[in-house]
Amino acid sequence: MKDQIAELEQEIRDYPIQSKEELEQFRIAFIGSKGKIKGLFAAFKSVPNDQKKEVGQLLNQLRQLAESRHQELKDHLEEQETQESNLDLSRPGEVSPLGSHHPLSIVRREIIDIFARVGFTVSEGPEIEDDWHNFSALNFPPEHPARDMQDTFFIQKGEKEISLRTHTSSVQVRVMENQQPPIRTISPGRVYRNEAISARAHCFFHQVEGLYIDRDVSFADLKQILLYFAQELFGEKAQIRLRPSYFPFTEPSAEVDISCTICNTKGCNVCKYTGWLEILGCGMVDPNVLKASGIDPEVYSGYAFGMGIERIAQLKYKVNDLRLYSENDLRFLKQFTSA
Ligand code: PHE
Repeated sequence: MKDQIAELEQEIRDYPIQSKEELEQFRIAFIGSKGKIKGLFAAFKSVPNDQKKEVGQLLNQLRQLAESRHQELKDHLEEQETQESNLDLSRPGEVSPLGSHHPLSIVRREIIDIFARVGFTVSEGPEIEDDWHNFSALNFPPEHPARDMQDTFFIQKGEKEISLRTHTSSVQVRVMENQQPPIRTISPGRVYRNEAISARAHCFFHQVEGLYIDRDVSFADLKQILLYFAQELFGEKAQIRLRPSYFPFTEPSAEVDISCTICNTKGCNVCKYTGWLEILGCGMVDPNVLKASGIDPEVYSGYAFGMGIERIAQLKYKVNDLRLYSENDLRFLKQFTSA
């Protein structure tokens, strides 16, 4: 009897099972009411009494082995089945949704890229500025209206009055203070003005300002870089036009228009039927500004220019409401998703 049990045990362990049918055959052969184990239990009666205890235990162990083996194989087959039914090799991969860059970042990068190609470096500075860097060093007379409370956010810090920078020209002052010419740099960044928020004005916006100082820098150099910039940004056909203007820190100063990219100077509602769009301010750095930062105006001259990123983005993407840039409306931002 013990030999039979041992043999059956081996048989159970070796039984090959690949399918549900084979599993069922296994069940019938070993566990079922006409199975081999049942047969042994029937024969148990004839086991001599003194061996009953031992053989009974072995028999019970054998039954447990058969049952647990059956359960194990059943689980295994079921698991295989669900895996197979879930495996659809023709299914397209899951696409993770793409994020997007903010339109102002896209335009800022593009502007930086254009100037980097002709040797401009990027410089940055603090958004909270003192009077010197934002105004005085830039030749703003003390009574100049741009210092007026209406334009500038002032902050009281102890005795000292500081402000949120109103332009990134403040960064250029810092560069001039720390570096001798040749200087060729652009300063992108956020600036603040105390204005009521509307579609056309905001209390903050973004600028890129440029500065080039070296020996013999002329107004012709300025015109050339601006034309290069306009054509890189808006295409070869872009033209520029300069109108005389005034800034305390440049002399002479000009405002720059670009030929309307929408109607090709024929006149449309975007350019208000003038054929031209204003994009930036510029001029030759005033000798007083150079002097204030420790650069000798007898030896060096330079040009500077400054533009609003929102304005350029508005022309590129035809976005007419400035508020859209800072409201984080996904319907707006998603339009700038790129591959
Ligand atoms: N700083 C000026 C502004 O914020 C722009 C500018 C920069 C004009 C440099 C001329 C030269 O409006």
